[in-house]
Amino acid sequence: MAEVVVAGSCMIDLICYVSRLPKPGETIAGRSFSQGFGGKGANQCIMAARLGSSTAMVAKLGNDSFGRSTIENFNTNKVNVDHVGIVDESQSGVAQITVNDEGENSIVIVSGANNHLNDEDLGSAKEMISRAKVLVCQLEISPETTLNALKLAKEAREDSAATTTIFNAAPGLAGLKKEFYKYSDILCVNETEAELLSGVSVTDRASGESAVLSLQNEGPGCVVLTMGSGGVLYTLPREERNGDDSVSVHHIPAEPVNVVDTTGAGDAFVGALAYYIARHSSLSFSEKIRRSSLIATHTVTLPGTQTSFQTHTLPKELMVS
Ligand SMILES: Nc1ncnc2c1ncn2[C@@H]1O[C@H](COP(=O)(O)OP(=O)(O)OP(=O)(O)O)[C@@H](O)[C@H]1O
Ligand SMILES: *[C@@H]1O[C@H](CO)[C@@H](O)[C@H](O)[C@H]1NC(C)=O
Ligand SMILES: *[C@@H]1O[C@H](CO)[C@@H](O)[C@H](O)[C@H]1NC(C)=O
Repeated sequence: MAEVVVAGSCMIDLICYVSRLPKPGETIAGRSFSQGFGGKGANQCIMAARLGSSTAMVAKLGNDSFGRSTIENFNTNKVNVDHVGIVDESQSGVAQITVNDEGENSIVIVSGANNHLNDEDLGSAKEMISRAKVLVCQLEISPETTLNALKLAKEAREDSAATTTIFNAAPGLAGLKKEFYKYSDILCVNETEAELLSGVSVTDRASGESAVLSLQNEGPGCVVLTMGSGGVLYTLPREERNGDDSVSVHHIPAEPVNVVDTTGAGDAFVGALAYYIARHSSLSFSEKIRRSSLIATHTVTLPGTQTSFQTHTLPKELMVS
């Protein structure tokens, strides 16, 4: 039994640090190399697991060493892998990242096995998804599979204990089907994704609010827009809105911190939100957002992606209802 189920991507990040990015046809010597676990799905699942949720991943890996080490990483973090499949036809997903001294990067993502996650896999995981408190999806696997996962979670049970869906529309996808909104209890986006989906250019708090209202009009339960150091804008879920029909946009500022590495901050936020919804349902939605934001901010003070998802140094009050 997993309270948080993530149907999504697993990647291995291969990062080369160089003084400058190579030109076409050029071979240059890099300074250093690092390999890390990534993929938005895996990252969000690991964050929820480290905070204390029982979690499960629904994903596809290649029959290769990257796939095997990804499974090991899930085991170490107590993530259930009953529905993590291995395919022979494709390699595990990889992100080849080159970072120069200015911190600029160029990235090639090969989704590989992630593209093989399909409806049959969802069918096998149906029981697990419909019993979960929260299902989390992103857009690093096939959009059709993502939509069907959200649909399955919302249609399997219509009782009050039905699964809450968090849809993190990342990376942004132009022309997203309207149906995605219908099956999303919580739509989570960053500024780039909000702009792509709403057409509203997000440059400050006022334009962020317009984008949130525009996305809310598409019909999700509620909308959450993370804005890096600008904090979080959000609407409340239906059950917390006051009787009157006007939907207002709320704001929670981010704590000012010494930024070391923001990679994965968005994933930390989404994983933490899944944890609070599953484990601390009595907290108000605003309090869940405030705490998720504090956790995401903590990760930007540490290097790496999953390596920055440290939970033992978090204030204990964050874990109490
Ligand atoms: N510079 C920062 N200072 C404080 N908090 C931050 C900062 N950057 C990110 N955060 C925290 O992380 C949350 C998510 O960050 P952000 O909106 O940048 O997501 P993202 O663009 O998806 O992240 P990334 O692509 O870097 O993983 C923010 O809402 C905030 O709580
Ligand atoms: C992976 O490949 C090995 C051979 O290299 C094979 O024996 C094994 O059955 C494959 N596993 C899966 C799940 O396809
Ligand atoms: C939003 O997330 C995408 C990945 O989904 C990333 O490419 C983009 O840089 C992020 N935007 C901001 C403003 O951080």
